[in-house]
Amino acid sequence: MSEFTYQGGVFHAEQVPVPQLAEQYGTPLYIYSRTHLIRQYRALADAMKSIRPHIYFAIKSNSNLAVIHTLANEGAGADVVSGGELYRARKAGVAADKIAFAGVGKTVAEIDYALGEGIRFFTVESEEELTRISERAAALGSVGRVAIRVNPDVDPKTHKYTSTGKAENKFGVDLTRAERAYELALKLPHLEVVGLHMHLGSPIMSPAPYAEALEKVRPMCETLKRDITTFRHLDIGGGLGISYRPDQAPLDPRDFASAVLPALHGLDMEVGMEPGRFITGNAGILVTRVEYIKDNPFKKFVIVDVAMNDLLRPPLYQAHHEIVPVIQTDESIFGDVVGPICESGDFMAQDRSLPAVRAGDYLAILSAGAYAFVMASNYNTRGRAAEIMVQGDQVEVVRARETWDDCIRGEVMPTWS
Ligand SMILES: Cc1ncc(COP(=O)(O)O)c(C=O)c1O
Repeated sequence: MSEFTYQGGVFHAEQVPVPQLAEQYGTPLYIYSRTHLIRQYRALADAMKSIRPHIYFAIKSNSNLAVIHTLANEGAGADVVSGGELYRARKAGVAADKIAFAGVGKTVAEIDYALGEGIRFFTVESEEELTRISERAAALGSVGRVAIRVNPDVDPKTHKYTSTGKAENKFGVDLTRAERAYELALKLPHLEVVGLHMHLGSPIMSPAPYAEALEKVRPMCETLKRDITTFRHLDIGGGLGISYRPDQAPLDPRDFASAVLPALHGLDMEVGMEPGRFITGNAGILVTRVEYIKDNPFKKFVIVDVAMNDLLRPPLYQAHHEIVPVIQTDESIFGDVVGPICESGDFMAQDRSLPAVRAGDYLAILSAGAYAFVMASNYNTRGRAAEIMVQGDQVEVVRARETWDDCIRGEVMPTWS
């Protein structure tokens, strides 16, 4: 169910007409539905309620403080992958003992910060990292809680850039080497071995890869649980898919639960999950204004004020985003939707049937709540878009539009030039 719907032919975000928001706040404009965020979170928590999972919201999918805060209020923790994300999670009100810190390249400064905050655990991706965390914990007179991320070598059947649980990916410790990594972790004096982690990739449209991976890691969990008294947490990662097209079925959390719960049955471990896109993906849209319609002998181009610096997914992953008019129309044109950036890769849609629009009209790019604003840049010295949050008929700017001054903040001309 979407919170972005036509009411009387006008596209609405919950109860607020989108054209009105575009006029008032300008474009490009990210709009988030708070109701959708909460509904998705609750649907997943409810489907899995028999095991009362720890849900660490993957804030890499959307790290706006208002989004994190909304989910923290629902009881979510946070999955973070950098010191900056940890900082955001804490600022948004996530308790330190509800934060898991993942990522293959944690720096000394990041580890020190996380140890100082007292996070729940580090998801550790290599033996070298185990050693580093133990050394830093020793230096700070602390103990690093660790869950080793194993790579189960399961194909999540998604884009190669977002597949993370296959043998050739940089993530996790190969299952054949995991035993050795646990032995090392147990020997290192300033570590507490609390669990095992896996994350297969994203978006995953079927529960089958999760079941396959759990079958592979379960025997190892059983052994570790028997041998290590502190070993109690199994984190099964995120990756649950959503629909990007009207005819695409999302991964239903109840189907996910039906496949995953039997695989966890009797294991008697605390279970963690790290959903991102499932919660945020369809909670957001990106509104853009048509600047020009340009015809060349081969193609029609709808030139809009959104560019690849605002939404990178189409050029980066060849991702599909539905594009709809904010005033309903039955007429259509055929062509590309492109931005103003000086790259041929700057497109939102290619060779697509599109609503018939004219310069000055607004379009809404759907499914823009996850891996969208978070990947925005200042390329071509374009300020990043404003973000607003809507609930019912209430609206709040949750991140101001960047100005040109914001774009050059921190830059200096050498005194000697
Ligand atoms: C370790 C880890 N956990 C969770 C996620 C969240 O994935 P998704 O947003 O698809 O749920 C990611 C995504 O990259 C990840 O790398």
